[in-house]
This record gives sequence, C-alpha cells and structure tokens, in this order.
Amino acid sequence: MKISIIVAKSLNNVIGKDNQLIWRLSADLQLFKTHTSGHHIIMGRKTFESIGKPLPNRTSIVISRNPNFSVPEGHFISHSLEEAIQICIGKKLDQVFIIGGAEIYSQAIAIADELLVTEVNAILEGDVFFPEIDKNEWTVISSHSYKKDEKNQFDFDFVVYKRNSK
Ligand SMILES: NC(=O)c1ccc[n+]([C@@H]2O[C@H](COP(=O)([O-])OP(=O)(O)OC[C@H]3O[C@@H](n4cnc5c(N)ncnc54)[C@H](OP(=O)(O)O)[C@@H]3O)[C@@H](O)[C@H]2O)c1
Repeated sequence: MKISIIVAKSLNNVIGKDNQLIWRLSADLQLFKTHTSGHHIIMGRKTFESIGKPLPNRTSIVISRNPNFSVPEGHFISHSLEEAIQICIGKKLDQVFIIGGAEIYSQAIAIADELLVTEVNAILEGDVFFPEIDKNEWTVISSHSYKKDEKNQFDFDFVVYKRNSK
C-alpha cells in the first residue's frame, strides 16, 4: 500500500495558523480534491475539526487520543497513526493519503512513500509547520507551476517527491 502525504506549505514550511489555513488557493484545493477523491484520508483530530465535517467522496480516519471522540457513520477513529495505517491495510487499499496537520505529518514523514507538496511561493507567519524535506531522502519526480490570479493568492508549485530507495 502506497502511503502518500499531501500538504500545502510556505517557503518557511508554515502550514497553518489558529487551526486554519492561511491562504486562498482555489487551484490547490482542486488538486487536493482530484488526488484524494475516492480514497481514504488520515488526519489528526484538530485538522478534522478545522474542516468541520468529513470531506465528500472520501473515507476519513481521524486520529485522537480521546476514547470518547466520534465521527459520522462510514468514517473511522483511530488512537494512533499505526492503528490508522492498519485499518487501511486491513481493507487492502492500494493507497492512502495523510492530510495533516503538523503533529500527524511529523510522525508520518518517516513512513511515507510519496510527498505531494504545494510549495506556496511566500514566507508567511504561522504556528504549525511541515518538517524540513531532506533532499538526501527524497527526489522530485514532477513539478508544475501555477500563477497567482484572482482565485489564487500566491504563485505556487505542485511538487511530487518519491522516497529514494534505501
Ligand atoms: N497546509 C496544509 O496542507 C494543512 C493540512 C492539514 C492541516 N493544516 C493545518 O494544521 C493545523 C492543525 O495541525 P495540528 O498539528 O495542530 O493538529 P493535527 O495534527 O491535525 O491534530 C493533532 C491531534 O491529533 C491527535 N494525535 C496526534 N498524534 C497522535 C497520536 N500519536 N496518537 C493519538 N492521537 C494523536 C491528538 O488529538 P486529541 O487531542 O483529540 O487526542 C492531537 O491533538 C491547522 O492550522 C490546519 O489548518 C494544514
């Protein structure tokens, strides 16, 4: 099963502030939707609450230490990243997407096979960060540039990294 991380980060690795995203990038939301639709998505409890509800056409697996946390029918709670991955393996999935936030990314980057990274061309202030991508461990396999316009606040690149074989 391929484990893919999908993230949007600024040049200084900021991914959010006050439990929200800090940019308006319509083309990035569309890329996120295209890549994740039809798949299982793993996220931390704070990211789930920030979105507010399960995203359509995707199965959510929410990670929380709270034994009483619940999610709508058809979605899953897990109490660790390992348990979330085991749920996906048990379902014989080909691929799963890890969609954040910072706490979950920092644990998941060690086990991911692929990173789908929206690299927002700005230095921004925030309170949550993506880990530094170690260029010795990851190779860029594709990159596409998007220009800012009325629906996209910043230029950005959509970059796919594959883990180097050991
Ligand atoms: N730019 C992007 O691509 C992107 C994507 C996603 C999110 N974000 C941003 O990231 C921020 C949220 O990130 P965050 O780091 O604050 O929160 P988070 O990673 O979404 O969720 C953290 C919560 O996950 C649970 N958790 C984490 N590790 C766990 C473990 N090993 N076992 C069990 N439960 C675990 C805990 O929930 P409990 O407290 O319930 O135990 C913890 O409080 C927001 O600003 C959001 O907008 C940005």
